[in-house]
Amino acid sequence: MASYLRTITGSSSSNTSSSIPTDTLGKRLVKWALIIGVPTAVCVAAYLVYRQQQEQAKKSATRRSPLPTPLSKVNEDTTTTSENRLKNRLTLAIDLKNEGNLKYREQNFNEAIEAYSRAIEVCPVESTEELSQFYQNRAATWELLKDYEKVVEDCSKAIELNPKYVKCIQRRARAAETMGNFELALEDYSTVCFIDSYQPAYIMAADKVLTDLAKRYLENLPPSTAELSKDYVRTSLNEFEDDPILNESFINEIRTSQPDSSLARAYQAFDEGRFTDIPSLCTNELESTDDSPYKLQTLLLRGSFYLLMGNYAEAVADFDAIINDPNVTEKIKMNAELKRANTKIHQRDLEGAMYQYDECIRNHPNECSPHVHRGMLKTLLESYNEAHDDFIEALKISPTNLRAKYQKLINDAKIGAKEHQSESIEQALNNFEEYYDTCKQDIYYALAITSCYLDNDRKDRALEYLNKFVKEIPSNPTLLALKANCLMSSDPSNNTEAEKLYIEALELDPSNETVLTMFAIFKCNQNQFEEAASLYERAIQCTRGEEKLLQYAALLYAIRAQGRAIKRLNLNLPGGFPQAGPLPNWMGGMA
Ligand SMILES: *[C@@H]1O[C@H](CO)[C@@H](O)[C@H](O)[C@H]1NC(C)=O
Ligand SMILES: *[C@@H]1O[C@H](CO)[C@@H](O)[C@H](O)[C@H]1NC(C)=O
Ligand SMILES: *[C@@H]1O[C@H](CO)[C@@H](O)[C@H](O)[C@H]1NC(C)=O
Ligand SMILES: *[C@@H]1O[C@H](CO)[C@@H](O)[C@H](O)[C@H]1NC(C)=O
Repeated sequence: MASYLRTITGSSSSNTSSSIPTDTLGKRLVKWALIIGVPTAVCVAAYLVYRQQQEQAKKSATRRSPLPTPLSKVNEDTTTTSENRLKNRLTLAIDLKNEGNLKYREQNFNEAIEAYSRAIEVCPVESTEELSQFYQNRAATWELLKDYEKVVEDCSKAIELNPKYVKCIQRRARAAETMGNFELALEDYSTVCFIDSYQPAYIMAADKVLTDLAKRYLENLPPSTAELSKDYVRTSLNEFEDDPILNESFINEIRTSQPDSSLARAYQAFDEGRFTDIPSLCTNELESTDDSPYKLQTLLLRGSFYLLMGNYAEAVADFDAIINDPNVTEKIKMNAELKRANTKIHQRDLEGAMYQYDECIRNHPNECSPHVHRGMLKTLLESYNEAHDDFIEALKISPTNLRAKYQKLINDAKIGAKEHQSESIEQALNNFEEYYDTCKQDIYYALAITSCYLDNDRKDRALEYLNKFVKEIPSNPTLLALKANCLMSSDPSNNTEAEKLYIEALELDPSNETVLTMFAIFKCNQNQFEEAASLYERAIQCTRGEEKLLQYAALLYAIRAQGRAIKRLNLNLPGGFPQAGPLPNWMGGMA
């Protein structure tokens, strides 16, 4: 999903000369979303609108005025009596409208409504522009009288006659929102965005409605029973080197010394991919004995799965209990500290996360991983020079640590890009390639080098590598989805191939929300909004954590509303979200 956001940052930054405020508002949101690895709903709107605006900019020269003047045409050409009659009726209608306007200004609203109603009655049906204006004026009056149902009714008639009537669409949106008809309000706000270019006020209004809709949707959603994705669990845990909960000799010890214990059963559940059973089995273990020798390992296992399941408060409680235990070993304590900081990232408390990494480094001055983790957060926060220091420190402690090396290279390339030093970027990329032969089966390496190429706008090389990695590391859904994403953005004629890859990735890992949401974007690109929405529904089924649920639900509604708006305006949004690039979860935490 993060890839989608990269898309947005990519498209706005590649066009720095534009004065479109997508950059200011969008970037802020995008940045937050990036860190967590999920998009904000606003971004979909912002992005679609951004593209639309590009199109509009091209066409603006030929843009017609909203109210052409059929009246003058009629004047020039009054040859037949029927045309004369029409003209007279139109003149009368306009007089009535003017009377309505007068009454309106005098605040005689009921009389104004009467005048507008008569104007509507006498106006020839052919005079659509005028007729829509009369409806719009009457709607404005109803709005002041707080009769919102009537506002919606009149606006709807006006919009039917003149689908690009911005003022009226906005009015209906407001009224619909007041009445609690959020879907209509959202559709209207989206329509306004498309017609009248992106403006923060519209996006803000749309976002508020989206949030309300999403909240309502989630209130009615039954609790998720979906299992965690295997690939997700594997990749996320892989982020913590030598994770004590994956210690083979420890697991064997448990299995042989106490095969009937709840802890042994928790590891059984782990093997069988029943991940959501793990926390309660750990709780059983902790409650069954007062002083289990494995208490801390059990807490760590439970906390880790709370984190993966999005139960952040419970996760933090477990990590705190471990950290504060006087008997804790250094390895376990460090792992709990790193995971606690990671939880902070998920909770969007980046300052808190940074503080905890600092503390972790103070507590374990001779360990490599805390520096790597802190450096990664600094890279994300674009403090590249500070991140560099962390990676250097990590490599001083452990000169052969591959993760520290990869992360340093990613960061080096970012420094090069920031300083516009293409040589340093090339240097970093070349250094990366040197590890290929030894690391080609390491998924961490595969993701690191691929994203480094994508980061630096070298989709061709990224794709080349992905093709190789797909062979070296077969049946990996992450690689398949990345390749699909890459194909999708590099060449629309490869769409069939991209679609096949998404489907294959989902067969391997059906509950992978990242793949589901990437596939949804792909469908959006092809203007298949309903399919995209169903993919979001599936993603919601396998998502945990309120924040993400809210965002996916918001996206679901945003996409549906935008789909309807696009249809309504008969727009043909050019497919192709350019610049797709991944943000592997090892950079954004366990997202
Ligand atoms: C793995 O578990 C064994 C047995 O409990 C323990 O002796 C060893 O120190 C652990 N290794 C690590 C790296 O934690
Ligand atoms: C620490 O270990 C000692 C000896 O094994 C034990 O008696 C004590 O209860 C442990 N403390 C805690 C807080 O678990
Ligand atoms: C799904 O796949 C993505 C990349 O394709 C991977 O990074 C992630 O860990 C997987 N799991 C989830 C739950 O997103
Ligand atoms: C993608 O398109 C390019 C150019 O049209 C073509 O050379 C390439 O073979 C295609 N790749 C796949 C996997 O279909």
